[in-house]
Amino acid sequence: MKYMTAEPFRIKMVEHLKKTTIDERRKYLKEAGYNVFKVRSENVYIDCLTDSGASAMSDNQWAAMLQADETYAGCKSFYKFEASVQDVFGLPHVQPTHQGRAADYIMTQLYAEKGKYAIGNMHFDTFRGNAEIMGAFPVDYVIEEGLDTQITDHPFKGNIDIDKFQALIDEKGAENISVVIITVTCNNNGGQPVSMQNIRETSELAQKHNIPVVMDSARICENAYFIQQREEGYADKSIKEITREMVSYCETATMSSKKDALVNIGGFFATRDKEIFEKANTLAIVHEGFITYGGLSGRDLEALAVGLQEGSNQDYLEYRMDHTKYLGDRLVEAGIPVMQPIGGHGVYVDGKLFFPQIPQSQFPSQRLVTALYELAGVRCVELGACAFGRKDPETGEDIWPKLDTMRITLARRVYTKSHLDVIVNALTDIYKNRDQYKGMKLVYEGPITALRHFTAGFELL
Ligand code: F0G
Repeated sequence: MKYMTAEPFRIKMVEHLKKTTIDERRKYLKEAGYNVFKVRSENVYIDCLTDSGASAMSDNQWAAMLQADETYAGCKSFYKFEASVQDVFGLPHVQPTHQGRAADYIMTQLYAEKGKYAIGNMHFDTFRGNAEIMGAFPVDYVIEEGLDTQITDHPFKGNIDIDKFQALIDEKGAENISVVIITVTCNNNGGQPVSMQNIRETSELAQKHNIPVVMDSARICENAYFIQQREEGYADKSIKEITREMVSYCETATMSSKKDALVNIGGFFATRDKEIFEKANTLAIVHEGFITYGGLSGRDLEALAVGLQEGSNQDYLEYRMDHTKYLGDRLVEAGIPVMQPIGGHGVYVDGKLFFPQIPQSQFPSQRLVTALYELAGVRCVELGACAFGRKDPETGEDIWPKLDTMRITLARRVYTKSHLDVIVNALTDIYKNRDQYKGMKLVYEGPITALRHFTAGFELL
């Protein structure tokens, strides 16, 4: 085993990448209003915008798709999908949805309430958007260490701050908290894991006050791997034993299967509560499709059934986490400030520390995103002043997030270590010349601030 440290797969189909010149990329950036969401992917050399829906599927997934049953009700593919989810999650009732945010929508309808709090470590945008439309109050209670990129020795920086949760119960009353949502891993602060102990203690406190717990489980297998490697008592447990235990503390789980289930589209809502399930079925019928397909084709259900098994495979996860860590370690060696310890699905560069001369009002992490695309054709995403900046509803003043990063997101089974070396080399050169960069001005934003990063327009200062 000692020598078998390479990818646990080999490549039998390739997708060609186009090389562009720096002048071309400058033009594309200008045309895109310095927002890389608007750059065509054919003009991207290495795409690290997201890990979502960007996985390479396996021979077994493609083979399963050929056997798909495309009938409307009760298709064979649904039962394979259902069995696979039950196996990894240990939940009896499973409603497929076309992707994660559709499951979020159903979950919000069933668990969020107007005028009540929804506690989370860090809520993902789509739940936050759904909750805000409804008039619920989503609050992020990740531990303080989770907001500091330079605290390197905390193994579970995605944990919920239980003291804050208790304080809200004391202050507002448990009846004003409608749900607790634990996102594993915590996407917004570096793909940082949540410990089993924290999941258990959060759930105990919630249950004591009759508050339901939901798991946003897009990256549950990666989180389980971290528990296995870092938490006492889990070294000898299998990934599925760990995922099932994680979910055992929750009533319901939602999943964007475009991440750890290694598919290009798909998601689900799974629960142990029959009444909740029946309500979810009704919402799915109205918004997604009949109960046994939920907006997915039989092919998608087949790919998901197989992908979830591959995503929870020990050898695959070991490769996956080593791959991310390789990139992170090389950036740390180069002196580049990144969120540490290195998380699951990407490496997050601290924009404020990278460009200390650029204030948050001038979008340091977004400046880094554009610099990296310009120099090397590598596309990353800003998770900082633009994505998370807000306006104070009373004064209209800008509120800047504590964490301001550029996420280098790694698609699953897609890029090799040489691609990662390209990123390291380019970022190292930008870092050497970091004093020469100035900030950016936001010149366009859409009507909903929480979603402005998708369509924002900038100018260089
Ligand atoms: N929950 C989490 C934790 C997510 O990261 C995402 C998507 C969703 C829910 C929504 O799922 O995209 O299938 O509708 N995250 C992607 C990202 C888009 O880039 O982090 P979806």
